[in-house]
Amino acid sequence: MNYRHSFHAGNPADVMKHAALARVLAYLNKKENAYRVLDTHAGAGLYDLDGANAQRTLEADAGIEAVLAADLAGTLPKPAAALLAPYLDAVRATRAGGRRLYPGSPALALALSRPQDRFLFCELHKEERAKLEKRVGEDHRVKILPQDGWQGIAAHLPPRERRGLVLVDPPFEEPGEFQRLVAGLEAAYQRFATGIIMLWYPIKDLKAVDAFRRDVARLGLPKTLRVELDFATVRSLDVLSGSGLIIVNPPFTLADEMRTILNALAPLLARDGQGRARVSWLTPGG
Ligand SMILES: C[S@@+](CC[C@H](N)C(=O)[O-])C[C@H]1O[C@@H](n2cnc3c(N)ncnc32)[C@H](O)[C@@H]1O
Repeated sequence: MNYRHSFHAGNPADVMKHAALARVLAYLNKKENAYRVLDTHAGAGLYDLDGANAQRTLEADAGIEAVLAADLAGTLPKPAAALLAPYLDAVRATRAGGRRLYPGSPALALALSRPQDRFLFCELHKEERAKLEKRVGEDHRVKILPQDGWQGIAAHLPPRERRGLVLVDPPFEEPGEFQRLVAGLEAAYQRFATGIIMLWYPIKDLKAVDAFRRDVARLGLPKTLRVELDFATVRSLDVLSGSGLIIVNPPFTLADEMRTILNALAPLLARDGQGRARVSWLTPGG
């Protein structure tokens, strides 16, 4: 377990994932009833973009920093800026103290939800979990678990609230992660068929991504949305050239919202200005 998200926080893949997370929560917030978020691979919760790890890669410069600058300059198309507003406001709010911080999925989910909502964060890495405890552990809505996220799916679903989101965002440092994602999706759906289930994956090896999409489609779960963004036209097995999300039971508005958002962000987030967004149904939508 060598992966540290602090090297990558706020990069284009994070922006795409967190923009989708924010839209899902905006939808869940429309009903008064409480919901639960299970984040199976939670990370440290909040990241310092001026810290040594982030400064070593500067990945956030091509991600959240480019988006915040465009928003400030008013150059984002208006419909996309409106959809992104809750996410970008939450990012700006973490900087109120003057430090360039970036909220990971736990801090973002907490910022965008209500007092009645509940959160389970699995994080296996001891130091990352200690940071998460420090950053969000005092919030009474939160439980942080020193648990394997894959086991967390079996242990904590369905949630008592019977509505909510399962976010599965593994580090992809060990072989077999695509297969674990498919198995995790199947297990999550079996236990919580009405929940929104969101999986993140890297686009490096196109063959592996194709096989993964086929395996997900083969599960035959209804309403399976695929959202992808390419940041680079040069493909290499070692370089992240894009990232994707599989979302089962997405809010009915999400496909159109993500098209609007990603078509606006693609040129900004792409290394060569030629990003490309793809939003399509792997199995029929609602
Ligand atoms: C990609 S990062 C998570 C980023 C976070 N979801 C976000 O968006 O801010 C993956 C995290 O999973 C943790 N991890 C790795 N294997 C795990 C496992 N089997 N169960 C739970 N956490 C795991 C890593 O320590 C790392 O912090």
